[in-house]
Amino acid sequence: MNKLSIVGAGVVGEAAAQIIAREEFCRELMLIDVQGELAQGKALDVWQAAVESGSDTRVYGGPNAELLQNSDLVVITAGVPRKPGQSRQDVLSINLPILDSIMLDINRHAPAATVLVVSNPVDVLTYRAWCLSGLGRNRVFGQAGVLDTARMKCFIAEETGFSARDITALVLGGHGDSMVPLMRYCTVGSVPLSHFLSNQQIERIVERTRQGGGEILGLKKVGSACDAPGVAIAEMVDAIANGRNRILPTVAILEGEYGRTGIAMGVPCVLAEDGVARVIELSLDAQEQAMFDRSADQVVRDIAEMNAL
Ligand code: 2OP
Repeated sequence: MNKLSIVGAGVVGEAAAQIIAREEFCRELMLIDVQGELAQGKALDVWQAAVESGSDTRVYGGPNAELLQNSDLVVITAGVPRKPGQSRQDVLSINLPILDSIMLDINRHAPAATVLVVSNPVDVLTYRAWCLSGLGRNRVFGQAGVLDTARMKCFIAEETGFSARDITALVLGGHGDSMVPLMRYCTVGSVPLSHFLSNQQIERIVERTRQGGGEILGLKKVGSACDAPGVAIAEMVDAIANGRNRILPTVAILEGEYGRTGIAMGVPCVLAEDGVARVIELSLDAQEQAMFDRSADQVVRDIAEMNAL
C-alpha cells in the first residue's frame, strides 16, 4: 500500500500507527488531528520508533484535511471515548458531526480511498460513513469484532488454562452489550469449547466479553482501551495492504445477509486488497439467530436515533 491516513491521533490512532509503521504495511503513513501540532509530534515519535525497528515507512502528521490526498486507505479513530457508565451510543451526538466532517474531507481530498471506521458507536458511524461516501459497501467498513474476539480468546485461555495460540473464536453482531459471541464456533486446538467447559463457564466468558470494553473503562477511568484496539486495526490493515484474503469479523453493510438490509454490523467477511471481498453468511441455529436479531434490532434503533439528530 502506498499511503494510509489515520484521522484522529488519540491513543487508539497512535497505537495503530505504531504497529502499521513498524510492520511497514504502507510506504507513507499520515496522522491527522485537528488539535494543532499534536499529530505532527506523534508522527515524529512513531516514525523514529519505526526506524529503530528497521522500517522504512515514512510517518508524517498535521492538522489539515488536504493531507488526506492520495490516501489508499483512511482509518477514522477521531471522536471522544465514552466515560465510565456511558454506553457507546451515548457519545453519538458528539462523534456524529465529527464523522460527518471527516467524510466531507475524504470526499473532497481522497474520494478513491477505502474507509475503515473505528470511532464509536462504530456500527452506526460505519453505516453513516457508507451513506455519505457514495462508495460500494466493499470500501467502507468498521472494526469491532477483531477486538471483541481477542478479548474472548483471553477469557477462554484463562478459563481453560490452554494457550491462547490454539484458540479460535468468533464474535458477531453490534459492538455493544448485545454482541453475539458464537460459542459453537469457538475451539481450542480444533476441539469445540464445550468439550472443556460447562455451560456456566461459557456463559461467564460470554458476559465478560460483552462487557470487555466497559471493564477496562471502569478500571482506567480516564480513557477506554487503546492497545488492543490498535492491534485490531493493524490486523485489518494488514489484511487489506497485503491482500491476504483473511476471514475477519468486520462491521459490514448488510444487503440481505442474515435477513437484514440498511444496517452495518459485525459479520465474518473476507478482507482483501479492495476491502470487503465477501460477506460470509453462516447458518445460525435458533438461539444464535435470536441473539443476532436482538443485536440487529438494537443497531436499527441506534441508526434511527442517529437519523433523528
Ligand atoms: C472498546 O470496546 C473502545 O469500543 C472500544 O474498548
